[in-house]
Amino acid sequence: MPQAINEEQPRDHASPAVDHGIDPAASIKYWNSVPPTANGMLAALGGYPWYSRIDLRGSKSFLAKARRLVPTCTTEGKLSTGVDCGAGVGRVTEGFLSQVCETVDAVEPVEKFTQTLHESTLKASGVVGVIYTVGIEAWRPEKKYDLIWTQFCVGHLKDWQLIEYVRRCRDALTETGILVFKENLSTDPNGDDMYDGLDSSVTRTDAKFRDIFRDAGMNVIVSELQTGFPKTFKLLPVRSYALRSKA
Ligand SMILES: C[S@@+](CC[C@H](N)C(=O)[O-])C[C@H]1O[C@@H](n2cnc3c(N)ncnc32)[C@H](O)[C@@H]1O
Repeated sequence: MPQAINEEQPRDHASPAVDHGIDPAASIKYWNSVPPTANGMLAALGGYPWYSRIDLRGSKSFLAKARRLVPTCTTEGKLSTGVDCGAGVGRVTEGFLSQVCETVDAVEPVEKFTQTLHESTLKASGVVGVIYTVGIEAWRPEKKYDLIWTQFCVGHLKDWQLIEYVRRCRDALTETGILVFKENLSTDPNGDDMYDGLDSSVTRTDAKFRDIFRDAGMNVIVSELQTGFPKTFKLLPVRSYALRSKA
């Protein structure tokens, strides 16, 4: 999730085997305690609304770059089918994915969040398609997607689960499909992943992400750091990765 670096309360640190600390039940309990709103999704930042605006604008420009790098992918107009993975209440779908895809499915394990999505105007208008109330580790795609967008949630998966998830996504992409991850990065001085007891998640290093993507048979076609966050807030860096199959 988007996180501020808290210097007064050191984060639980991390050995290389830090993902052993992940406890799905504790994560779901934490997320159930968060209000089902867009700001709730950014709760660890105190729900700063400006954060979301900067994030969504950066995502739009990142996707445009990625589309230009995929041969035969249209660079103008909407993609046909996307999916928002770890969607929460649909902050990313509402502020970005619905503007670049005709329909957007959603994958999210917390029922009170998917309930909000079910009741949204985007669902009523048909822009939000199928809503899967399930964690991404248990989600089995039932169709092909032009865009699979996974943001601020893979810290809830162990490394091996993330590799398998990436493989399943790879097989669920259309010919010109793009898989995007947008996540916080570890700032651990020893270069390790960091464990966060608040929501029982792991914040990975850039190197760990790249290892996982390679092991899952994916190439990073473009990657960039999100810019534009005020320096005064000492936020964890956020990096986007656009992936395509090596095959
Ligand atoms: C920081 S919020 C981000 C929500 C949304 N991606 C956004 O950027 O607004 C993290 C989300 O991950 C969800 N989550 C927790 N465990 C998950 C899992 N195993 N698979 C997918 N999502 C999970 C939480 O319920 C929560 O909605």
